[in-house]
Amino acid sequence: MVKQPNNILITGGAGFIGSNLALTLQEIYPESKILILDDFSSANFKNLKKFKGEVLACDVSSDEIFFKADEFQPDLIFHLASITDTTVTDQELMMRKNVDGFKNVLEIAYDNEATVVYASSASVYGNVKEHIPLKEDREKSPENVYAFSKYIMDNIAEDFSEKTGLKVVGVRYFNVYGYGEAHKGKFASMIYQLYRQMKAGKRPRLFKWGEQKRDFVYIKDAVEATILAKEAPHSTVYNVGSGEARSFNDIVSLLNKYLGLDLQPDYFDCPYDFYQEYTQADMSKIKEELGFVPKYNLEKGIKEYVDILEGRI
Ligand SMILES: NC(=O)c1ccc[n+]([C@@H]2O[C@H](COP(=O)([O-])OP(=O)(O)OC[C@H]3O[C@@H](n4cnc5c(N)ncnc54)[C@H](O)[C@@H]3O)[C@@H](O)[C@H]2O)c1
Repeated sequence: MVKQPNNILITGGAGFIGSNLALTLQEIYPESKILILDDFSSANFKNLKKFKGEVLACDVSSDEIFFKADEFQPDLIFHLASITDTTVTDQELMMRKNVDGFKNVLEIAYDNEATVVYASSASVYGNVKEHIPLKEDREKSPENVYAFSKYIMDNIAEDFSEKTGLKVVGVRYFNVYGYGEAHKGKFASMIYQLYRQMKAGKRPRLFKWGEQKRDFVYIKDAVEATILAKEAPHSTVYNVGSGEARSFNDIVSLLNKYLGLDLQPDYFDCPYDFYQEYTQADMSKIKEELGFVPKYNLEKGIKEYVDILEGRI
C-alpha cells in the first residue's frame, strides 16, 4: 500500500480534474515529487500556476511516454489523460489515445511496480431506463466511442491486475463540476454552461422540460475520492458521484438564487438520439471500502463554485 508516495506521476494533469488533483497532492505530500504529462489538447496551463513540480508535454499514446516517465520512476500513477470530447466520432483516434495510452501507462506501472488510479466514466452505464442508483457491477452499455474506450479500459485494468498482482483502481466519475473547467468549452459541466448564459443576462437554455436528472459531483469531492482510491484494499472500480440525482431545473433555481437573478429556462427539443436521462451513483461500495462520503450536495457545491467564479472567496 502506498502511504507516502515518493514519485507521483499524473497524466492529464493540466486538465480540469488533473490540475485540481495535482494542487491537492502537492499540499498533502509536500515531500513527494510530482510529474505531470499532458499533451495540452484540452488543457489550460493557467490551472497550474501554483504547481511547483515538473510538467512535460507528452502524448501518452506515443512512445515518448517511455522516455519521459520511466526515468522518473513513479511509485504512484494517476492516469487522467483522455480525449474528453464525447462527440468525437473518429473511432480509431479515440481508441488509440484512450486505450493505447492507458496500456502504455500500465507498462510504466509494471516497470516501476507502481499503484495506478485511472479515470473511468459513468458513461459506460449507457442510457439506463430505470431511475435507480447505479451499482458498479451492473450491466454496461457504452453508447458512444468515448464510453466504449472507458469500458475497454476497465476490462484491461482488471486483466492486467489479475496477471501482475499490481493494484489498479478505477474511479468512475459521474458529472464533475467546479473551478478549472472553463477550457472544456461545450464539454464543461452544465452548471458552468448555465452560469455563463445567465451571467450574460440570457435565459438558460434547457432541453424540454429540464427534469432530466444527473448525479453532479463537486470537484473537491472528486479529488478526495481519487486520492483515497490509492488505498483500495484490492484492484477494483469505484463510482464517484454525489449519490443524488438532481435536475437541470434545480441547477437553474440555485444559480438564480446565488447570482441574485430571476431568469426562467428557455426550453427546446433535445436533438440527440442518445442522451442520458437519469444518472445516480450508488456510493455504497466506496463508502464501505474506503469510508468516502461526499461532503458537497448540489446546494453547497454550486454556492461555493459561484462564490469562486464571482471572486467572493
Ligand atoms: N469531468 C467529468 O465530468 C468526467 C466524467 C467522467 C470521466 N472523466 C474523465 O476524467 C479525466 C479527466 O477529465 P477532465 O474533466 O479533467 O477533462 P480535461 O479535458 O480537462 O482533461 C483531460 C486532460 O488530458 C489531456 N490529454 C488528452 N489526451 C492526451 C494524451 N493522449 N496524452 C496526454 N494528455 C492528454 C488533455 O490535454 C487534458 O489536460 C478524463 O479521463 C475523463 O475521461 C471526467
